[in-house]
Amino acid sequence: MTGESTAQKYENAFLGLSAAVLVLFLVALFYAATSMGLSLPSRAGELDPSEVRTTPPFDDPGIRRVAENRYEVVMIGLAWGYRPNRVTVPAGAEITFRVTSSDVLHGFAVEGTRLNAMLIPGQVTELTYTFGETGEHLLLCHEYCGIGHHNMYGTIEVVPPEQFEMPGEGGST
Ligand code: CUA
Repeated sequence: MTGESTAQKYENAFLGLSAAVLVLFLVALFYAATSMGLSLPSRAGELDPSEVRTTPPFDDPGIRRVAENRYEVVMIGLAWGYRPNRVTVPAGAEITFRVTSSDVLHGFAVEGTRLNAMLIPGQVTELTYTFGETGEHLLLCHEYCGIGHHNMYGTIEVVPPEQFEMPGEGGST
């Protein structure tokens, strides 16, 4: 009788503890999602993947200045590379990447940063980041996308703001 009730006491205690841990995790998750601004890369629009090259802004990929110290980088992921393949941005500026895929599912991961997203055909992925230091970052496709997947990469070059120059009109390759 005594043994049984002791076991029951422990069982109840562990049940309570498990419930408390669960609630704690839920609260932490809720806090991260609401107060710390953690979220999935936003879906910034939809378009017909077969018409990416003629749909603005993807008909003219590259970097543009949207405000003082704020830039937008429009890119297309395709089998197998990025268009443009190399982007130069100024350090310390807020850069918003607007990226989509013109064929299959690709990845968009910038080494050394928290930039990491999927490029889904038909959807625009939007990511914002400020590069603190100058240097080169490898841009990698990290979603298997076919036989040329391992060749799918690009370069993000971060230069001091005083050295940054906007590429010429239609400065994409
Ligand atoms: Cu594109 Cu892997």
